Amino acid sequence: MTKKILLGVTSGIAIYKVLELCSRLVKAGYEIEVIMTENATKMISPLVFETISRGKVHTDMFHSGHHEEVEHIEMAKRADLFLIAPTTVNTLAKIANGIGDNLLTSTALAYDKTIILALSANTKMIENPVTKENIKKLQDRNFEFINSKSGMLACNTVGNGRLAEPEEIFERVEDYFVKKDLKGKNIIVTAGPTREAVDPVRYITNRSSGKMGFAIAKKAFQRGANVTLIYGDCKVKLPYGTENIKITYNDELKSEIDKRFDNTDCLIMAAAPCDFRVEKYSKDKIKTKNSLTLNLVENEDILKYFGMKKKKQIIIGFAAETFDLYENATKKLKSKNCDYIIANDVSSSTSGFDVDDNKASIISKEESIELPLMPKIVLADEILNLI
Ligand SMILES: Cc1cc2nc3c(=O)[nH]c(=O)nc-3n(C[C@H](O)[C@H](O)[C@H](O)COP(=O)(O)O)c2cc1C
Repeated sequence: MTKKILLGVTSGIAIYKVLELCSRLVKAGYEIEVIMTENATKMISPLVFETISRGKVHTDMFHSGHHEEVEHIEMAKRADLFLIAPTTVNTLAKIANGIGDNLLTSTALAYDKTIILALSANTKMIENPVTKENIKKLQDRNFEFINSKSGMLACNTVGNGRLAEPEEIFERVEDYFVKKDLKGKNIIVTAGPTREAVDPVRYITNRSSGKMGFAIAKKAFQRGANVTLIYGDCKVKLPYGTENIKITYNDELKSEIDKRFDNTDCLIMAAAPCDFRVEKYSKDKIKTKNSLTLNLVENEDILKYFGMKKKKQIIIGFAAETFDLYENATKKLKSKNCDYIIANDVSSSTSGFDVDDNKASIISKEESIELPLMPKIVLADEILNLI
């Protein structure tokens, strides 16, 4: 069923970003109804929001016309989510103190579900002790905050106060509607490659992009889990809401997992640790010569280490194979004591490394399920369903 979002708009200078947000929400299929404060209408005409939202824009509590329904009460009843962006510190203060002197603040008083407030203002206004007190008051109630960010502000100063980007606010809305079926679960997701140094300037690594692990971490957070993402050198945008830990080498990967393992419900090893390291690291840069032979030795198997250590934990490993996919993945499942192996054929250019799609099979002791080619973000949900 279409979700209805009540979008409250106040007179912060970041109001222009909310047009883009509004457009994204409409494209994603949400039904939008807008309430603007009178001051907000001095910054952007309601006509613009009406056109972008393809819905109604309400501005005045005491307008002439249809009064067969009490507008603020009815709007509060029909919305699935009330989002106020941008939220001025003025409107924040009114809501925190139960003032309902306009249509937006009266509707907020009449709304009994979660209200998400995306704050933005000049740094001194945001960091004013009164504003902080107001935020604190609402945090203890049915309110969620999308905190302002640091950066260059419209008032020509650098500091905290920028409205979060439309993409982040959009994601928070999406998160809100996702069922929190992993609430209370502690999940570690690893992603991306590790490195092994050859000399002070050279290293060996692999082609893992981290996209699969990042997608799993993002979805796990959306579904309510406490997520630690431990990742190697990746170009992918970091998810928000997760504890993000950057590592470089295999031993760091192992020790960061180890620190948290006892309190973990599930370890998802989407990282691609280096299987080999050079037998002898050269502390001086190796001089250029006609040819060079590097002797590689096997690294400690991190997946196996945790497979052997596990008690209550569910362990999900990955197998990137180019031939005998099932045979190799099934062997890996047993030898590393995993609960599941996500096996993917990385010989294809349309799935696996560095692309947004993946074609995988889920292999457990009981069965193997072959999944069709799908976006990694969708596969992430299939994997999390195993938990
Ligand atoms: C150009 C301009 C930019 C403003 N930007 C902000 C802002 O980003 N955040 C804020 O809290 N107030 C900002 N203000 C002050 C609010 O508009 C003012 O407090 C107003 O009374 C808030 O009314 P409202 O909350 O009903 O929209 C700005 C004012 C002007 C004139």
